[in-house]
Amino acid sequence: MHQASPCPDAALPSEGPTMRLQRYLARAGAASRRRSEDLMTAGRVTVNGEVVTELGTKVDVRHDEVCVDGLLVKLGGRPVFLVLNKPTGCLTTMDDPQGRPTVRELVPCAAHPGLFAVGRLDCDTTGLLLFTTDGELAHRLLHPTRHVPKRYVALVDGLLEEKDAQALRTGVLLDDGMTRPAAVELLDRSRHATAAHGAAAVSGQDATLVALTLTEGRKRQVKRMCAAVGHPVLALHRERFGPLELRGVAPGAWRYLDDDEVAALYAAVPSVAQGARCATGEQGVSSLEHL
Ligand code: URA
Repeated sequence: MHQASPCPDAALPSEGPTMRLQRYLARAGAASRRRSEDLMTAGRVTVNGEVVTELGTKVDVRHDEVCVDGLLVKLGGRPVFLVLNKPTGCLTTMDDPQGRPTVRELVPCAAHPGLFAVGRLDCDTTGLLLFTTDGELAHRLLHPTRHVPKRYVALVDGLLEEKDAQALRTGVLLDDGMTRPAAVELLDRSRHATAAHGAAAVSGQDATLVALTLTEGRKRQVKRMCAAVGHPVLALHRERFGPLELRGVAPGAWRYLDDDEVAALYAAVPSVAQGARCATGEQGVSSLEHL
């Protein structure tokens, strides 16, 4: 174990590849990167039997023994990837202190400790939610400058005009700034437009079904964008996340990704491969097995 160094790469020891402890924990699937930091500062992480709370501390990935709450955390297992078709009425959190329904009850957490959702969907939003044990990849998928494209289908109130669609494409001003350019497709403008995917239908009311593909992930972004052009969202569904689609998964059900999908996910954030190789040298870790 090595204490934080102002110049991390210069501090690589000769006896084996090192990695920052919070990164090690995220890679090993103990938790997301941020949550790994919380585990450390809460004093729940030990290295070779000593509690480590200093965030920059490095571990020797071949020789150090890392534990969380006394349980050994190892690199090298294959990370897990699955997609859930999130139904309405459950929160995207693995722990709700108020005991409300959460996505945790819908995915196989007991079989895969460290599983967590990549990003969030609102309680009333349905659709594709990716889960993984690979905290490092999740961190990169959600990086503000490299968000993978996400396609949503929204049923909005009223007849959304082409000029509104154009405004959504070029960018609308929200209270946290202009939105980035988005792809927008009008799917159905009619008195009978209904949300696909089992979301609530509206009857006898003018409504528009519109698809939006965003490359950023601000809170309630689709709802705020549509409201900004005068068409509040009635129902919202996420159809795609980067290269991933649900492929027939029913609401409330999940499936594992196949190898091609995992490879496509890594390809969507290519610097994962570079970063991982630099950090781990020859040792390699689970998340590289799919490259
Ligand atoms: N945009 C929203 O407004 N809500 C979501 O759940 C996802 C994107």
